[in-house]
Amino acid sequence: MEISSVLQGGYQHPLSRSWQAKRQLTKSMFMYPIFITDDPEASVEISSLPGQRRWGVNKLEEFIGPLVKKGLQSVILFGVPLTCIKDERGTPADDPEGPVILAIKRLRTLYPSLYIACDVCLCEYTSHGHCGVFHADGSGVIDSTPSAARIAEVALSYAQAGAHCVAPSDMMDGRIKAIKRALIDAGYGNRCTLMSYSAKFASSLYGPFRDAAGSAPAFGDRKCYQLPPQAKGLARRAIQRDVAEGADIIMVKPAMPYLDVIQDAAQLAPDHPLACYQVSGEYAMVVAGARAGVYDLRTMAFESVESMVRAGCTLILTYFTPQFLDWLDE
Ligand code: PBG
Ligand code: ZN
Repeated sequence: MEISSVLQGGYQHPLSRSWQAKRQLTKSMFMYPIFITDDPEASVEISSLPGQRRWGVNKLEEFIGPLVKKGLQSVILFGVPLTCIKDERGTPADDPEGPVILAIKRLRTLYPSLYIACDVCLCEYTSHGHCGVFHADGSGVIDSTPSAARIAEVALSYAQAGAHCVAPSDMMDGRIKAIKRALIDAGYGNRCTLMSYSAKFASSLYGPFRDAAGSAPAFGDRKCYQLPPQAKGLARRAIQRDVAEGADIIMVKPAMPYLDVIQDAAQLAPDHPLACYQVSGEYAMVVAGARAGVYDLRTMAFESVESMVRAGCTLILTYFTPQFLDWLDE
């Protein structure tokens, strides 16, 4: 055998195997998506997302406290309003008494060093369940300019409540510029990070989330604003657009079926942190496969996030975050 064809000497030990990574997984790479509902005492299991719950503001301490002790460093909040009155423009999204704003304030007080990101979208708060607002002419078409303006208002109110990061997930054209402008003009340009869901695909993998958040559209689908799965070029253009419009972090979503897009993003935005979202359906799939005996849960969960890091991401939003806090200690 040629000397250069012998590779196995380089990874015969667990430690030398770990050195094969360009970057090691660390706890700081994990951001935990959490669902906050408007009943302050809620702790309600979400059946389609095994192990995840909808939490009320008064339960955050018992929920998050033990995780912070284990090394949790960041969360991203999703509002799940169950009793509010939804309307065309998503008025409850920035209700100062709404669950997201109350949760930001509570978490800032309880855990001063926890990094708090907030998903920004209207779909949980609009009567029609879409992520923007419609043209007044009854054409049934989303009107992107007022949509971006409304989303910027909501983002600013989360920043003012104390969010360290706002993350618009609506995919409306021009919303990054609108939000960045609003943050700067209100004096939050240097106080709040803008993380853009830049390459967000119209995916079948959001089902459990829509179930959890009550955000399925009342009619139609999201194909006019989320990207078609085959659209590598559009994803590249969206990433470049959001970099140019002032995004601080770029995100690709879902993650596993779009590793090529993560790799593209790492090349197109090499000077930005790069996030990816292992979405609800990916999580549910990994858990279901383990339950069906296809693989060991922990091994597969590691394999999934290692693929994302290998593709170039530096931050992973995943429902597995609590488990990784344990697993990375073992
Ligand atoms: C809403 C939103 C969705 C997710 C995050 N923000 C769902 C959607 O676009 O329908 C998906 C998250 C997940 O599936 O875990 N704009
Ligand atoms: Zn939405």
